[in-house]
Amino acid sequence: MPGGTIGAMPAPRQARTADAASRSPRHLLGLQGLALETLRTLLTLSRDYARRAPATPPLAGKTVATMFFEDSTRTRSSFTVAAYRVGANVVDLSALNSSVTKGETLVDTAITIQAMGVDALVVRARQSGAAQLIASHVETPTLNAGDGKHEHPTQGLLDILSLATAYDRLDTFDLSGLHLVIVGDAASSRVARSAIAGMTALGAQVTCVGPAPMSPRSLETLGVRVSPRLDDVLESADAVMMLRIQFERHDTGTPRADDKFRAPNLLPSIREYRAFYALTEERAARLKKGAVVMHPGPMNRGIEIDAAVADSPRSLIRHQVANGVPVRMAALAWCTGCD
Ligand code: CP
Repeated sequence: MPGGTIGAMPAPRQARTADAASRSPRHLLGLQGLALETLRTLLTLSRDYARRAPATPPLAGKTVATMFFEDSTRTRSSFTVAAYRVGANVVDLSALNSSVTKGETLVDTAITIQAMGVDALVVRARQSGAAQLIASHVETPTLNAGDGKHEHPTQGLLDILSLATAYDRLDTFDLSGLHLVIVGDAASSRVARSAIAGMTALGAQVTCVGPAPMSPRSLETLGVRVSPRLDDVLESADAVMMLRIQFERHDTGTPRADDKFRAPNLLPSIREYRAFYALTEERAARLKKGAVVMHPGPMNRGIEIDAAVADSPRSLIRHQVANGVPVRMAALAWCTGCD
């Protein structure tokens, strides 16, 4: 399958009604369009797993296949830890050791793994729409672990859980009155897309900030405000989510080590980007009392965020990573009907 967004395709069901439960698998492909009730169910289960491990492993005897066709540290390892914590076995498939390198399609690979009798497929791919494409060809619950520039639903859930914890909103996950500022390369970011969908559905106000190629006005169609200047919105933020510049999703590719301070086509220079959009110590000092700093990782310290800010008491970054485990436990339990 070539890179880029996959167009019209059958829409797999993300949730099932009671009468359809026996024939329709539950997939978790994105937060956009997910029923509010389902979003709250997933968050409540995540909260409960974060507080206490399940007394009886809900997925005991089940097998989860992790299919990662793009690099990952956090998502891959936390899905694996989560699967073990809910009692499942894990079969791990990556691009390098799969027959995708011999030309097999992602769909044929998924169908092959399904034939072995696995209970859930966790898919990461660089193509937007890949998880949805797979889900439309299998009967096995499919979880999107990040697809191109499209969505990263479990990251969105862990971001919400982290913010709701910081602001004591864990009862109902009502985020109204909170202002989230997302800074940087939102146009290329599946993390931003999932965060926007989930946070706005729960009542948060979201503003995207960045240079026009990375934070275009067209993002307003997602229900956010767009501002070109971080300094204009910094002091009204309850949370600031910093994004990495997604060099690998730009036409220019990943920069060489000696090319670190150039970003041809999208930016005049990384130095200029830092001057206007980095969360430096000086900018962090201007945040509201109690405002929190988030980053989905991987971080480029010294580019979009100063190391001292990433490691400061305001930072939720380690909590975000920790919350990935209960969120993925909940996602696996919900998708397999073991919730
Ligand atoms: N946040 C995130 O998706 O990180 P990884 O790419 O390391 O999984």
